[in-house]
Amino acid sequence: MDEVKEFTTKQFFKTLFTLPNTLKLIFKLEKHYALYLIILNILTAFIPLASLFIYQDLINSVLGASQHLISIIAIYFITQVVTTILNQIESYISGKFEMRLSYNINMRLMQTTSSLELSDYEQSDMYNIIEKVTQESTYKPFQLFNAILGVLSSFISLLTSLIFIGTWSIGVSLLLFIIPILSLILFLRVGQLEFLIQWRRANEERKTWYIIHLLTHDFSFKEIKLNNISGYFLEKYGKLKQQFIKQDLSISRKKVYFNILLDFILNIVNIGAIFAMIMSVRAGKLLVGNLVSLIQATSKINTYSQAMIQNIYIIYNTSLFMEQLFDFLKRDEVKDEESIDLNNQYEEIETINTANLSYIYPNTDNFTLKNVNVTFNKGELTAIVGKNGSGKSTLVKLISGLYKPTQGEIYYNDQSNGSLPIDFYQENISVLFQDFVKYELTVRENIGLSNLAYLRNDDRIIQILDNLSLDFLKIKGKYELDMQLGNWFQEGRQLSGGQWQKIALARTFFKKASLYILDEPSSALDPVTEKEIFDYFVKLSRENISIFVSHSLDAARKADKIIVMKDGMVEDVGKHESLLKRSSYYQELYYSEKYEDIDG
Ligand SMILES: Nc1ncnc2c1ncn2[C@@H]1O[C@H](COP(=O)(O)OP(=O)(O)OP(=O)(O)O)[C@@H](O)[C@H]1O
Ligand SMILES: [Mg+2]
Repeated sequence: MDEVKEFTTKQFFKTLFTLPNTLKLIFKLEKHYALYLIILNILTAFIPLASLFIYQDLINSVLGASQHLISIIAIYFITQVVTTILNQIESYISGKFEMRLSYNINMRLMQTTSSLELSDYEQSDMYNIIEKVTQESTYKPFQLFNAILGVLSSFISLLTSLIFIGTWSIGVSLLLFIIPILSLILFLRVGQLEFLIQWRRANEERKTWYIIHLLTHDFSFKEIKLNNISGYFLEKYGKLKQQFIKQDLSISRKKVYFNILLDFILNIVNIGAIFAMIMSVRAGKLLVGNLVSLIQATSKINTYSQAMIQNIYIIYNTSLFMEQLFDFLKRDEVKDEESIDLNNQYEEIETINTANLSYIYPNTDNFTLKNVNVTFNKGELTAIVGKNGSGKSTLVKLISGLYKPTQGEIYYNDQSNGSLPIDFYQENISVLFQDFVKYELTVRENIGLSNLAYLRNDDRIIQILDNLSLDFLKIKGKYELDMQLGNWFQEGRQLSGGQWQKIALARTFFKKASLYILDEPSSALDPVTEKEIFDYFVKLSRENISIFVSHSLDAARKADKIIVMKDGMVEDVGKHESLLKRSSYYQELYYSEKYEDIDG
């Protein structure tokens, strides 16, 4: 994460330089509404000046100094009506603009997040940025644009009021102008502090979201309830939140001090000005109507200048955020360039070779995979076995292109992984991950999401459901493809752990691929189901490359080839019988499964 440096004028301008980019982005997404809003704001900004003149003439006409009472009242009436209409139109357009802008930016962001790498989500720094950016981008760009409009209109109103006062005394007018400019500089320091605090605590904020997630979702609720630990989590949550509140309040207090100070100074100047005005009237140099309008203009200057400062503050604060947002969006542009010529049709994979494949997870010290040299062939069923943490799933993720090798290469039909784009993997490989997804969606989607072209093809979906005997999805003898699954949404049907796993398996096989990988496919299956599914997989493996990771060596013995992993390295490769004869490590795995003593 970038450290935000100490406040300097240079950095202030650098941050403000994101403004053209922000405007460009906003205009690109919502040009018309942005323009309407700017025009409306400029128009309404002149209304206060018109009011000043109208009040002045109204009062002077009471005193007989103005002759056109009727026309002044008519102008007064028209101004009021026009003001109301303009304000209403503006608030409608502004609402519409906000909705559309936040929708568009969210879409852009979601596109960017889906183009990230798996490893981006596995690093907390990156995760913080993703969370922060996705949470805040819904409202920050709009807030920024609104603030720009606010500055524009309050600046116009401020300026016209100052000019109005300037017609009486330029000196007073200048004095009233200098004070808000000076206080602005003080305010921006607070703006940066606020941003810094919020940016640095992103990690802690995510912890509070995580606790809320734990306390409000079924997957964790059972355990929390039974162990009676909700109090523990609430306390943890409370501690974090109280710390945030303390920080926020300290910023609020600083703002209050500044506001009081600013208001105090402005009021002293105001009193002085009003005093001088009254003296002018007494000396017969100023009409009472003019006095009333001048007093009004003077008091409004406080309002306008504070509005202007508040808005510049918001602009500065949100621009600091926009800097990060633009950095984030750039990731997508880089990837776009990488993947320009990608309308290829890829030939199916017939062999895979890893050549001295090694992998180290970012932010860790030791290699998780070391010099792995293995081969997979079409028509061959390969099992990968080994203890927890031996690197089996990591190998699967490397082969499926989700990670890039740290050292060594993977060859797909003699093509090195370095030369293959992401859609090569997407087209060719179907994987059942160890932590497969339970989509809280319909049966149809749970199966068809791996092959969208056939999402509406009932026959195909039913065929795969039949092949894997997912009979539990039948109602009165018929598959209910549009039945909602899970219990998050209305009329959802919750399934058992093994049933979910069968659905995930069906989804994996529904995809047309030349390489199928199943990571722990039977962890939740009963022995009968396991056998059925295994038979299906064996049949399928004759036309594809098929790999499965398993802790069950009984299942593995049916494979054509077994890869034994130990501490990130390949311990041995072979058939069950020969491994059992020659590898003591394999024997250890095999006999512990049987709950037998190796020696016994
Ligand atoms: N995202 C990650 N970041 C850092 N280290 C990781 C990550 N994922 C796994 N590891 C580490 O890499 C090692 C291998 O993990 P892997 O998931 O490949 O093991 P496995 O053989 O599939 O184990 P299991 O049988 O439990 O599924 C483990 O020590 C694990 O702690
Ligand atoms: Mg694993």
